[in-house]
Amino acid sequence: MAPTLAKATLVAPALAYMPSFIDAMREGFSRDTLRPETPETIAAVAADPGAYVASFDNPPSHITLPDGSQGEMVPATTLWCVEGETFLGSVGIRHRLNANLEQVGGHVGYAVRPSARGQGLASAMLAETLVWIAANLPLKRVLLTVSAQNLASIRVIEKNGGVLSGSVPHLWHGGETALHYWIDIQGNQAAA
Ligand SMILES: CC(C)(COP(=O)(O)OP(=O)(O)OC[C@H]1O[C@@H](n2cnc3c(N)ncnc32)[C@H](O)[C@@H]1OP(=O)(O)O)[C@@H](O)C(=O)NCCC(=O)NCCS
Repeated sequence: MAPTLAKATLVAPALAYMPSFIDAMREGFSRDTLRPETPETIAAVAADPGAYVASFDNPPSHITLPDGSQGEMVPATTLWCVEGETFLGSVGIRHRLNANLEQVGGHVGYAVRPSARGQGLASAMLAETLVWIAANLPLKRVLLTVSAQNLASIRVIEKNGGVLSGSVPHLWHGGETALHYWIDIQGNQAAA
């Protein structure tokens, strides 16, 4: 059975968590599991935390992909895992797939700040995210993709009922394989 979040909870990004979020970036937390933060990207967020939080309500129509090209930004929700005003981790929920996300990215991605890893947080975050999806999105199942080398994340997915459906060459990391896992959204009778 997947663990619960105990005192931590999933919330919408908000200004109150930004000092801790910036600390997490300095500690090694990256908003994008494909690209690490740099001193410049951290400084840009720290310079205007309010603008960063507001950006979740006004997302761009396109994102810059790891190869530098522009990709479609699908409707998405970001939730932060927090305890008090401490930022612990983040979940990105894509409401639908596109051609790139069908290969690498899937519906759900997550990351935990380095100092909070190894305590069951990602497993609990994913369990809570599946509940959020059942309540908010018309999805019967979700795709998660994970690098074959990311043993901790594979474990997180399998603990949450992920079923391996196949693998593809990683779109952005040459020589790596991306595993595809599907998780059924329990009790989502209203799903299309
Ligand atoms: C992957 C990540 C989210 C895991 O977060 P976490 O909070 O430490 O994960 P959990 O504590 O919930 O669980 C990790 C599980 O993997 C296991 N694990 C950790 N390292 C492992 C390893 N090297 N080999 C095998 N299993 C490993 C843990 O034992 C645990 O399993 P258990 O509960 O059965 O003991 C975190 O390392 C992270 O943020 N990494 C960078 C971003 C990333 O890779 N995101 C996922 C993209 S698909």
